Amino acid sequence: DVVDVRGLGAEGLFTYDPGFMATSSCQSAITYIDGANGVLLHRGYPIEQLAKESNFVEMCYLLLFGELPDDAQYADIEKRISNHTMVHDQINNFFKGFRRDAHPMSILCGVVGGLAAFYHDHMDITKAEDREISAIRLIAKMPTIAAMSYKYNIGQPFNYPRNDLNYAENFLYMMFSNPCEEYKTNPVFAKAMDRIFMLHADHEQNASTSTVRLAGSTGANPFACISAGIAALWGPAHGGANEAVLAMLDEIGDDSEENIQRFVDKAKDKDDPFRLMGFGHRVYRNFDPRAKVMKETCDEVLAELGMADDPQLKIAKRLEQIALEDEYFIERKLYPNVDFYSGIILKAMGIPTNMFTVIFAVSRTIGWISHWHEMITGDYKIGRPRQLYIGHPQRDYPVK
Ligand code: ACO
Repeated sequence: DVVDVRGLGAEGLFTYDPGFMATSSCQSAITYIDGANGVLLHRGYPIEQLAKESNFVEMCYLLLFGELPDDAQYADIEKRISNHTMVHDQINNFFKGFRRDAHPMSILCGVVGGLAAFYHDHMDITKAEDREISAIRLIAKMPTIAAMSYKYNIGQPFNYPRNDLNYAENFLYMMFSNPCEEYKTNPVFAKAMDRIFMLHADHEQNASTSTVRLAGSTGANPFACISAGIAALWGPAHGGANEAVLAMLDEIGDDSEENIQRFVDKAKDKDDPFRLMGFGHRVYRNFDPRAKVMKETCDEVLAELGMADDPQLKIAKRLEQIALEDEYFIERKLYPNVDFYSGIILKAMGIPTNMFTVIFAVSRTIGWISHWHEMITGDYKIGRPRQLYIGHPQRDYPVK
């Protein structure tokens, strides 16, 4: 709606667009989505090709700097990320202030924001060198902090990062290695983890990325901005959906045709709040291209584990088939989204559900920091939306 707010103290025409359904908040050259046709491009490259041919570190370079790296540039960014994977030893003390059973997302919000306290000498956002080192530090330290939050939760000692491992292998090592057992990297799991990082790396102006841009538009330091993004991601309507998919598959429970059909019918019933989790998307009105890659990865991981007959996977596949053939879902263009299969993969790899959103945050850090960087190095204004005032007009204070 275009609303004339003259007479309410302001001048001019304002658009009223709750949920920003039709408002571009910025210009960006990072990610393109064509929701009607199920297209997702990063710097022009289709996500399917990147997921197949590239890796997460290369994608970090692409998103941040705009082009694929040559061999020397790739070697350089890989080395720089490896050099910054450790966190300051005093961060260990910071962890100890949290309750053992704290949700790892709450730890992540606090610790990532707290990084600013360690790097205040290199946070001049007007200097290219400071902006770049902050970005590298964030990309490098997120898996370390994420794995530490898990270890803290389960009462095991923290693992120091291992720079002989690649980004995904190192994360799995820090998560699962413990002093009593030798940890062996499983290449299928490492590839799946890398894919999950790639598929969640960026998705233009979603709620958390918009939050990072809004915080960054005030000139706030990048660690504070990413912490704001983590907070926005924490909500179940954004980062928590894959957790909800697993809860739904558990609730469905039995893989008989009639039972699955019953849940599909429940999702169609307007008097029932139940929805098919992992189905539908605000922007995609077609297959989410990330969901297709995720489905293949899911098959690979479960085959590796000898779990191809996993009951949850069976339910998921049948549910998808039934829904895709159902008029209700066809008419509304509701397709599986990226979260439909990612939860099954993460669970199969032994990752607890309260870490799912944390892993999303690790992946999305590159998207957040690339958008922050693009904004800070371009023309921007402080983000300051207006409102449509619906309260009282001016009135006099009652004199007693
Ligand atoms: N199951 C059943 N019906 C659905 C579903 C679903 N999953 N999603 C949408 N619909 C229906 C709605 O009831 C509505 O029907 P109506 O036209 O008869 O009223 C119609 O489809 C349009 O849905 P909206 O809610 O208006 O679409 P919106 O763009 O606002 O919501 C959302 C998108 C939130 C993702 C929604 O599809 C949903 O709740 N999906 C399940 C949760 C989920 O998987 N979220 C993850 C999103 S991906 C991500 O964040 C990484």
